[in-house]
Amino acid sequence: MTGHYDVAIIGGGAAGLMCALTAGQRGKRVLVVDHANRVGKKILMSGGGRCNFTNTGTTPANFLSANPHFCKSALARYTPWHFIEMVERHRIAYHEKELGQLFCDISSKLIVKMLVDECHAAGVRIETSCSIERISHGEGENASFRLHTSHGAFAAPALVVASGGLSIPSMGASGFGYELARQFGHAVLPTRAGLVPLTLSGKHQERLADLSGVALPVTASCNGQSFSNFMLVTHRGISGPSILQISSYWQPGDDLRLDLLPGRDALEALQQWQHERPAAELKTVLGEVMPKRFAQRLCEVWLPNRPIKQFNLPQLREIADVLSNWPLVASGSEGYRTAEVTLGGVDTDELSSSTMQSRRVPGLYFIGEVVDVTGWLGGYNFQWAWASGHAAGMAV
Ligand code: FDA
Repeated sequence: MTGHYDVAIIGGGAAGLMCALTAGQRGKRVLVVDHANRVGKKILMSGGGRCNFTNTGTTPANFLSANPHFCKSALARYTPWHFIEMVERHRIAYHEKELGQLFCDISSKLIVKMLVDECHAAGVRIETSCSIERISHGEGENASFRLHTSHGAFAAPALVVASGGLSIPSMGASGFGYELARQFGHAVLPTRAGLVPLTLSGKHQERLADLSGVALPVTASCNGQSFSNFMLVTHRGISGPSILQISSYWQPGDDLRLDLLPGRDALEALQQWQHERPAAELKTVLGEVMPKRFAQRLCEVWLPNRPIKQFNLPQLREIADVLSNWPLVASGSEGYRTAEVTLGGVDTDELSSSTMQSRRVPGLYFIGEVVDVTGWLGGYNFQWAWASGHAAGMAV
C-alpha cells in the first residue's frame, strides 16, 4: 500500500481542487488523483484564457437538472461572494464583463495557482499523470475504498468523484465518473453536449454558410426558454452566446425560433419605416438594424424585397412574423469536441443535496459536472463546481 488518506478525490479540476482544499483545511489527509499531466486544464482554457470564475447573479434557476431543487442547498452555503473573497485574498484582479460575469483581468492561470496554493497550504497531496486501473470497496461500515493506480495503491474511507463530464476529450475529459457511478449501483441520466454550437444541414446550411463570421443580436427561444444575446453564423451552423445558451434546451427535432429584432415590436417597426421611408426597400431598412449582408440574405430567401410602401397590412404582418419568429432548422450540435459542458450525468435522486454523498454507498461522493446539474453560460458552471466541491469538502 502506497498511502492511506482520509479522502481520495478523483479529478483535480474545479470541483476536485475546491473539495480538496476545503477538506485539507479541516485537517483531513487528502489525496487528489488526476490522469492529466496538470490539474485545472479546463480552468486554464475557460473564458478565453481569463476564466469566468463565477456569476454574481447565481440562483438555482440558472441550472438544468432532472431535479431543479437539488442544487439549492450547496449554492446557498457557498455563494459567489465566498469565492470572490478567496480571489481577493490572493490579490487576483478581476472585472465584471456583463450580466454578473466575473473574469480575471490577467489570466486563468491565477485561479489554478490560487487553488493549488490553497491545497498545498492545507497539506493536500496531488498526483498528476496518474491513471486509475481499478477501484474496489471493502465490506462493512468502515470499509475503505482502494484505488489501484499507475502510481501505486491508495486507500481512503471517503472517495470523491470529481472527474467532470465528456466535453473536450483532448483536455482529459473521460466517462470514468459515470462508469464508477454505475459500478456502485448509481443511475446515470443520459448525457449530451450542452453550451455548444448548433449545426445546419442541406439548404439551411447552404443559405447561410457564406455569411460565416456575421454576428447579430437575437432572442433565441426553444422549449419555453429564451436567451437574448449575440448569434454568430459559422461555416457549419450557428454559435454565439444566445445559441450556446439555447443549445442546452434544444434537442434534434425541437422547434428553435429566433427573434431578429430583439426588444422591438417588428410590426410597429415596419409600420414606422413605411410611414417615414416609404420608397426604401425592405432590405435597406433592415440593413440599418442588422448586418447588411444578413438583411440581404433574409430578403433573398425568407422575405419579399420591394419598396416598403408596396406592402399592405397583412403582408407586413407576415414579414413581422418571420422577423420575430424566424424558424431555423438545426440538424445537430458540434458535440463534445467543442461543448463547454455535459448535460445529464449521475442522477441526483440518490445523492444528498447537502453533502453530495451517495445514499447507496456510504463514503462515496459525486461533485461538479459529473452530477446531473448543468449551469447556463456565464460562470455558473464554475460556481456549481465550487459549491458542490465545498459541500463535499465540509462533509468528508
Ligand atoms: P473538470 O473537467 O474541471 O475536471 C475534471 C478533472 O478530472 C480533470 O482534471 C480531468 O483530467 C480529471 N479526470 C477525468 N477523468 C479522469 C480519470 N479517469 N482519472 C483521473 N482523472 C480524471 N464554466 C464557467 O463557469 N466559466 C467559464 O468561463 C467556462 N469556460 C469554459 C470553456 C471551455 C472551453 C470549456 C470546455 C468549459 C468551460 N466551462 C466554463 C465549464 C467548466 O470548465 C466546467 O463546468 C468545470 O470545469 C467542471 O468542473 P469539474 O471539476 O466538475 O470538472
